[in-house]
Amino acid sequence: MKTIAFAIMLALFSGTAVAAGGGGDLMDAKVDVSNEASLQRGAKLFANNCMGCHSAKFVRWNALPEALGVSMETIEENLIYGSYEAGDTINAAMRPADGSEWFGAAPPDLSLTARARGEDWVYTYLNSFYRDPDASIGWNNKLLKNSSMPHVLWRLQGVPEPVYEGSGDSIQVASLEIPEGQGGTLTEAEYHQATRDITNFMAFMAEPVRAKRQEIGVWVIGFLVVFTILAYFLKREYWRDVH
Ligand code: HEC
Repeated sequence: MKTIAFAIMLALFSGTAVAAGGGGDLMDAKVDVSNEASLQRGAKLFANNCMGCHSAKFVRWNALPEALGVSMETIEENLIYGSYEAGDTINAAMRPADGSEWFGAAPPDLSLTARARGEDWVYTYLNSFYRDPDASIGWNNKLLKNSSMPHVLWRLQGVPEPVYEGSGDSIQVASLEIPEGQGGTLTEAEYHQATRDITNFMAFMAEPVRAKRQEIGVWVIGFLVVFTILAYFLKREYWRDVH
């Protein structure tokens, strides 16, 4: 009995350990795809700030109402610009070819990024933009060095400046600071929440059935636990006669 319980525990926890591994100093995104209010805010921020450049071509508009807990009319009124047909996927206003000409790299499709890069990576990325003192670089990113994406949320966050450490060739950005007078419309906590909401929405896009999977998972584990207890008593019952 003990060994079985141990094996079950091992199987359960080894998964989380692997998923959490890697990525030293990433921030913790703490996503919760069952939080509808967060998904709604994230979807809105995503539509207003990201879809000018990025597509999410594996995600259909009509997958949104159920996950966000709103009607298709609300989605149409608030998120979709221009014409759309039922079953359309989330497309970018910019063609990838334009993107690479303007930014040096084409804005990648973001449907699966939260899974490919990891949620914490995405969240950290959105919190790592800063103004490079080298004006020819413009916006830079502490996590993805020389990223060609501009800091599209700077009005919300403000304009972070780098604090360097080391010298010569080993000089690197140690931390980011928003100087007095360069703040945005949001406080630091509000900006963290906004970027967490976007990350949450991206996590939903990367796996639309995740909330449901987790819900079902709880029932499955519950069933297994109850079943194990029943099996144990059944075994005791049988062996009573043998002894
Ligand atoms: C002005 C165009 C533009 C807008 C608007 C924009 N991005 Fe980007 N984004 C880019 C470009 C260009 C890249 C490629 C960066 C590179 O690889 O150097 C990129 C890369 C990314 C990446 C990294 C993907 C990867 O796997 O490397 C993420 C994540 C991302 N963007 C998220 C967002 C989010 C979230 C928003 C909205 C808040 C947004 N972007 C708005 C242009 C844009």
